[in-house]
Amino acid sequence: MLTQTAYRVHKAPSSEVIAKYYQAMRPFWHPVMPAADLPDHEPRATELLEEPLVVVRLNGRLAAMEDVCRHFQAQLSLGEIREIAGYGDCLMCPYHGWSYDATGQCVDIPQMSAGREIPASAKVPRYHVQERYGLIWVCLAEQPIFDLPDLAGLEDPEFLQGPLRTYESWASSAPRVIMAALDDTHGAWVHEGLVGDRNHSEPPDHKVHREGRCLKVEFTMLQPNNPTIAENDQYAALRDVALTTTVGIPNIIHFDIQAVDSADGRRTMIWQAVSPRKYNETDTYWGSARNYDFDQAVYNEAFEAMQDTLREQDRRVVESQRPWLLPPFWTKIELPLRPADLPLIEYQRWLEELGITIGI
Ligand code: FES
Ligand SMILES: [Fe+2]
Repeated sequence: MLTQTAYRVHKAPSSEVIAKYYQAMRPFWHPVMPAADLPDHEPRATELLEEPLVVVRLNGRLAAMEDVCRHFQAQLSLGEIREIAGYGDCLMCPYHGWSYDATGQCVDIPQMSAGREIPASAKVPRYHVQERYGLIWVCLAEQPIFDLPDLAGLEDPEFLQGPLRTYESWASSAPRVIMAALDDTHGAWVHEGLVGDRNHSEPPDHKVHREGRCLKVEFTMLQPNNPTIAENDQYAALRDVALTTTVGIPNIIHFDIQAVDSADGRRTMIWQAVSPRKYNETDTYWGSARNYDFDQAVYNEAFEAMQDTLREQDRRVVESQRPWLLPPFWTKIELPLRPADLPLIEYQRWLEELGITIGI
């Protein structure tokens, strides 16, 4: 007989659980688009936790607001930037020309009778917004819980930055996408020959601890010698690789990778930041950096092609996971094992403390 729990695993989460998940995710910075995708003089629409947003540069500064005009609810992102005396650049609604400043306050209504004041309620919610690591980040709460983490190598002139890539949306929740990257024991099964080897599937000896707003995981593991560690093209050879993984709670993951047997100081960074558009739709931004081979474009191509392959291999497995939202430990729906799954257990423990993982 099917239990109630088993039945719910394959269903969409209840609207109550989705609302709680969105509420718990609001006080964090989430990436919404590459900064390069936002032109200087045009607004852009985006979505975060099912909220429609408009992002725009007004008077040289970023602004993020709800993408709904206070007048008759047209999308502000369809509008344009217009200069209003005393305010400079404002965002003008495409329907009747109401214009909003960077605080979301309407400062011009073309149809107003002379002598009447703009109502104070002619205002749209605006949100915290910042640009970092080539991305635009938004926080939907009054106050972000954590600042963005300082990620090694990404703002360091000693490192060559690879291009920022955007992967198409996955039908999965953001924590599950981060966990797919944090999970280091699936390599032998999903990515055999690329980052894993089935003859060496023993779990790494993880050292896991919290450091400020980040979860840190340190370990070494045997991996095929391939462009991840950028030595050569001997894909079959195995070598020990030392990894330090930093998870910026809840949606950023960064790997600092070094070959154990070489004292050449070569470090490769790979990082991902994920955008929870909806509980079951997540976009991933991906970047890399390295402190060697600054002039080898061929290496870039091989490295990025391999990363694209890894992503596609992960995708089919991660999209198949149910329930959509990570089930809390108390449900006993999943069976994480120590020591192999220790990083995942510690990540989930933190999400549960923050109220992000509370039900399915
Ligand atoms: S709907 Fe925006 S100005 Fe009327
Ligand atoms: Fe993977």
